[in-house]
Amino acid sequence: MIKLTFKKKSESFLSSQSMVYAPLKKPKVLISMGLKNDKRLLKLERFLKKMEYKGSALLEILHKTQEIYGYLNEDVLKYVSEAIELPLSHVYGVATFYSYFKLKQSGEHVITACMGTACYVKGVEKIISAIEKRFCVKRGGSTADGKLSLFITRCIGACAIGPTILIDDNVVGNATKDIVLERIASTLESEKIYTCRYSKNS
Ligand code: FES
Repeated sequence: MIKLTFKKKSESFLSSQSMVYAPLKKPKVLISMGLKNDKRLLKLERFLKKMEYKGSALLEILHKTQEIYGYLNEDVLKYVSEAIELPLSHVYGVATFYSYFKLKQSGEHVITACMGTACYVKGVEKIISAIEKRFCVKRGGSTADGKLSLFITRCIGACAIGPTILIDDNVVGNATKDIVLERIASTLESEKIYTCRYSKNS
């Protein structure tokens, strides 16, 4: 049984003895999250404690939160905001400022297209449009089956080899429409994933 007790900064502690969760403020946030027995919350609470619930550690906390949950949903942002006593608008503002942070759940495979100036000038828009059309995924979203997501980011620091596309963690430099479509198709093919109009025969 797991007990997670949420108190003010200096009082917060974690115990592994029971499943009672007792936040002191705004318990509705936790209840609406449906996460009171979620072990990910225990991990997050441990990290918050390590960071001493400091607002100045917001970036590290958001980074860890995304690592734990995979993305930053509204309820988790509310939880963080309350725990470190920063306005939700500030926490949300930071989360949306950095393209690294994802506010939506990602698909199994993530395509990230750089829309920085150099990549834009070198024609990344055509590649993005081709991905959307071929795999039926809108930028910022995922395919209906949740297998593939397409995100846009700002400069990733590889302007010299732009346009630049990331397929999961693999960088495709000097990307062309044909190369990128082929790489994505072979990634999906290797896992027998056929999404939308894409099929192994297309
Ligand atoms: S603008 Fe795309 S890597 Fe810099």
